[in-house]
Amino acid sequence: MKVIVIGATGNLGLRLVAALLTHGHTVVAYVRSTKKLESLLSAAIYNRVTVVQGDATDSISIKKAILEGNCDAVINAAGLAALPPWAKSDLPEIFRAVVKGVREAGVEREKPLRAWFLGGLGVLQFPGSDSMLSNYVPIYLEHRQNLQLLKSLPPNTIDWSMLCPATMTPESAEINVPSKSSHGPLVANATSPPAWQDSWIKHAPLIGRTVSCAMNAPRYETTLEQNADFIASDLRSLESEWKGVTVGVIDASR
Ligand SMILES: NC(=O)c1ccc[n+]([C@@H]2O[C@H](COP(=O)([O-])OP(=O)(O)OC[C@H]3O[C@@H](n4cnc5c(N)ncnc54)[C@H](OP(=O)(O)O)[C@@H]3O)[C@@H](O)[C@H]2O)c1
Repeated sequence: MKVIVIGATGNLGLRLVAALLTHGHTVVAYVRSTKKLESLLSAAIYNRVTVVQGDATDSISIKKAILEGNCDAVINAAGLAALPPWAKSDLPEIFRAVVKGVREAGVEREKPLRAWFLGGLGVLQFPGSDSMLSNYVPIYLEHRQNLQLLKSLPPNTIDWSMLCPATMTPESAEINVPSKSSHGPLVANATSPPAWQDSWIKHAPLIGRTVSCAMNAPRYETTLEQNADFIASDLRSLESEWKGVTVGVIDASR
């Protein structure tokens, strides 16, 4: 599949480029600095990628890159959510522009694009309820408005999925393209985190669910490479069980 990675110079973006190549995809890297991407990838990897310079807040440029690149799928790894609830980042503005660009490209080519977006653990629902985890631990709240935007899209405009990892750490500082993927696979679940450890503590008045979230959250740490591999692997087909949902992941081998 031909996949455009928006924000390809980031921690996840770089690993996405590598994972997509490992899975046999053709990659378009959309970055605000081609020089930066060139400095972060080996020449052998950089030369396998089509690079487009543009800003992720520019929906027209994103649409053009998708259409000119003849892309079938989009991954948005641009922007970084602010941690404290009172802080602001440019992620919501980037997210709106990417959604607009992807949507308009779909209209122009008369077929919605497949797209993966990034959220965080907090937009998943507390297991057994329809209340988000971020209602109990209010951090990275910008992902909530991004999810709301995706959910408000009319049908057949974007075939979206939102991957919602907790902290992602690098397995290696080096970006390599192995011939086959070598990471421990992730276990995934739609809407709420997989393998949540339930406890009586959740029933404690006022703080029960907050304590339950704090106890569970460290279990959901995964690697950047695992998440990149998860998306690249899903994109081997346009059919996906994750369309239109948030997706929680856990490394079951930890
Ligand atoms: N890292 C984690 O542990 C974690 C966990 C859960 C969710 N997430 C989410 O996953 C996503 C990716 O995270 P990350 O750690 O890979 O972030 P990151 O390393 O900070 O990368 C952000 C990327 O966005 C690009 N960018 C920012 N503003 C842009 C703009 N206006 N135009 C074009 N590109 C722009 C940056 O480009 P430059 O290189 O030019 O600055 C960089 O490539 C974020 O949405 C984050 O909230 C991350």
